[in-house]
This record gives sequence, C-alpha cells and structure tokens, in this order.
Amino acid sequence: MPSPAPETQRLFFALWPDDELRGELHHLARKVARVGGGKPMAPENLHITLAFLGSISADARLCVENLASSLQVAPFSLTLDQVGYWPRPRVIWFGASETPMPLRQLAQGLNAGLANCGLTPEARPFAAHLTVMRKASRGPDQGDIAPLVWPVDSFVLVQSLTLPEGAQYRVLRHWPLRESNPVQG
Ligand code: 2AM
Repeated sequence: MPSPAPETQRLFFALWPDDELRGELHHLARKVARVGGGKPMAPENLHITLAFLGSISADARLCVENLASSLQVAPFSLTLDQVGYWPRPRVIWFGASETPMPLRQLAQGLNAGLANCGLTPEARPFAAHLTVMRKASRGPDQGDIAPLVWPVDSFVLVQSLTLPEGAQYRVLRHWPLRESNPVQG
C-alpha cells in the first residue's frame, strides 16, 4: 500500500501589525487603493512577508523555527509612506521609501538560512511591501501616502490556510527582536 503523503503546512515569516495599526492601514487602504478595483485584503490578514516558505514538512518547520530563534536583530521603526501597483501579481501595496537596516538583516537572515533547511530561498532582492489589494486590474503610480509609523519589535511565523471564503492566516509563533548583548567586561 502506498504510504500517505507526509503532513505539510503552508508557512511564511512576516511582520504582523497590532490591532491599532491594522485599523489605520485598513482605513488608509480603503481611501487610497480604491482606484484599481480588485479585492481588498481582509484587515486581519494585513502583513509584510519576510520570507515565504511554501508547503513544508514538520522537520523543515522545526529547522526554520531554530533559524528564527538564532537571529539577533534589533527592534526598528518602519515608516510606510508609499503606495504602488505591481501589474504582474496585480497587487496594490503600501511600502517604505527607506528600508531600515534591521529589516534588511531580518529578511536576509531568514532567506539565507532556508537552504540549510532544504528550502529554496527567494532569488529576488527583498522589497518590503504590505499588500492591500489583490486582483487589481490597475492601480496608482508609485507615490506618497500620509506616513504611518510602525514600531516593529517582533516577527512571526504564519500558517496560510486556503478556505472557500479565501485565505486565512494563523500566527503560530512570535519572536521578539532584541538588541545585541552588551560586551561582557
Ligand atoms: P504578498 O506579500 O505580495 O502579498 C502568503 O501567501 C504571503 O506570502 C503573501 O503575503 C504573499 O505575497 C507572500 N508570497 C511571497 N512569495 C509567494 C509565493 N511564491 N506564493 C505565494 N505567496 C507568496
């Protein structure tokens, strides 16, 4: 008898806004992203992807959780001050004109470690973006929005569930960001 397919979970690492920021993002998205039609992201689904893992085994999940725990990245402040449209994935997004160094380190640290877990890292350079609208046939040219400041002090591992009513995301685990340890003298 063929053995059953091993259990997998569709996972990604992300920055996850708190409820207050989530509300502000949703409010702004309704105002700004209306132009392109499409399907607004449910407010509870708004996030910034750090590394997309795909459908992975329990062993690979353990490996990426260990990777996440090994990273030492300082808290940072992310200012979302841009809106734009990517025609190929057909998404309208909010982004940042400046990517803070700790955010770059976090995304690169996660992606660089994926190969050790048997996963394929993203080949494209990291472009921090928060999708606010999917399946948009058009969208705004890249431009400014009233800046939203996001104090980031943690990142999360998220499971993506595909349900008849659409994608549902479930946060599985949080990692606090931390300053580097002071040198012991
Ligand atoms: P997005 O960040 O542009 O919206 C869960 O699917 C999250 O992972 C989404 O935020 C999605 O895109 C991001 N993602 C990155 N690469 C992906 C891929 N190859 N397939 C599906 N989602 C991907």
